Amino acid sequence: MTLGALVHGSGGHIAAWRHPLSPPDGQLDLPLHIRLARTLERGTFDALFLADVVAVWGHDLDSLRRTARADHFEPLTLLAALSTVTERIGLVATATTTYNEPFHVARKFASLDHLSGGRAGWNVVTSVVPLEAGNFGRDTHLDHTLRYRRAEEFVEVVRGLWDSFADGSVLRDRASGIYYDPAGLRPPHHAGEHFTVRGPLNISRPPQGHPVIFQAGSSETGKNFAARHGEVIFTAQTSLAGARDFYADVKRRAAAYGRDPDDVLVWPVLAPYVASTEAEARARLDELQELVHDDVARRVVQDNIGDLDLSSYPLDGPVPDIGVTNRSLSRQELLLGLARRENLTIRQLALRFAAVSSVIGTPETVADHIERWFRGRAADGFNVSFPYLPGSAEDFVDQVVPELRRRGLFRTEYEEATLRGHLGLPRPAGRPVERAEDDAGAGAAAAVAR
Ligand SMILES: Cc1cc2nc3c(=O)[nH]c(=O)nc-3n(C[C@H](O)[C@H](O)[C@H](O)COP(=O)(O)O)c2cc1C
Repeated sequence: MTLGALVHGSGGHIAAWRHPLSPPDGQLDLPLHIRLARTLERGTFDALFLADVVAVWGHDLDSLRRTARADHFEPLTLLAALSTVTERIGLVATATTTYNEPFHVARKFASLDHLSGGRAGWNVVTSVVPLEAGNFGRDTHLDHTLRYRRAEEFVEVVRGLWDSFADGSVLRDRASGIYYDPAGLRPPHHAGEHFTVRGPLNISRPPQGHPVIFQAGSSETGKNFAARHGEVIFTAQTSLAGARDFYADVKRRAAAYGRDPDDVLVWPVLAPYVASTEAEARARLDELQELVHDDVARRVVQDNIGDLDLSSYPLDGPVPDIGVTNRSLSRQELLLGLARRENLTIRQLALRFAAVSSVIGTPETVADHIERWFRGRAADGFNVSFPYLPGSAEDFVDQVVPELRRRGLFRTEYEEATLRGHLGLPRPAGRPVERAEDDAGAGAAAAVAR
């Protein structure tokens, strides 16, 4: 089994920053992040994962003033720092294909892969927060279908850029004075619907060949994209049956695209509340839920369903109807489905959402859950979203990880050096070196040399 850690400054629960056990300034606390990364490495986690949006994380500054969501590190910058104080744990950053250029993304992730000795991963997202549009010269968010079309081309270009220099073609041979062999140069020369990118990249091939691709698409288009490109697919699932269906569906789609289903790992999100008794663990969640302000509760529902204004609806009344929108379709279906099935009020839905993917209990019962999902082919591992930090990560590493190890489910030490190695994923071969008559490569090499 494999494990990732979703780390958000003071914690994944929306009210974590207010909890006495989480530092209120945890979002920008580098020593805290270093301590966390080392704790996770002690727990032999496969990866530390940072989510991101390129805007304040929400839609409304008035309610954001009651959360820590408008104050967070840029993920690659933080991971570059963490790469210097860790040795084995994978470092995964989120970067959007909607408001970036492929060259920038390819270059930054290749740099992180070199800095960390092959531990980088890229969580490819198409952006979920419409406020991002306003930061990049657009009035409105790009349409859902178009976002994925752009993402498709974006990933193809990034992969081509990572393969700019064939393995072994950067010789750095002082005696002959040859830094790289032009025969191994493979600039993508890409010209497509969204991007024109000549290449090559200005850094040699990443140690992993390609940093590991993470993805969380959940709509039809999103799942196909994930099955084509994702190597770790994470997902918010609320039941074992639903998670099993999702797992089988992802593996089937990957196989249909000619991929080995074992090369696509599925990680449901899991938010652990662990204590020595069930009641104590539940009390920890209750403490956090009580810290969710009314304004935040309303916005949690409004922002995640999207395109509706709940300000005139009573918090303790039903969730109103809403039509099709341009927002995350899967998240909308998840929330509305839950509200309808269980007849929830806006407040109840907000609190359920704030506690989504929670697993509450003793180390043994949390391990039981993990084992049931893993053995039940609902998960190859989990992206563990720590609700409050650093406490919930420390409890998990000190109490749940030993239990998983005792059951033979999880490694006792790292056996590999790279993130691909931990995850058992193959290293992409890259494009072979073709000697002679390669005019494009040689021409580009000459241009670079000049
Ligand atoms: C656990 C989880 C974490 C996610 N983190 C981010 C994120 O950091 N940034 C982002 O823009 N989208 C994030 N997403 C959203 C996904 O990238 C994707 O847009 C979403 O699942 C909707 O997919 P769909 O558009 O195919 O429905 C996350 C989704 C999940 C399930």
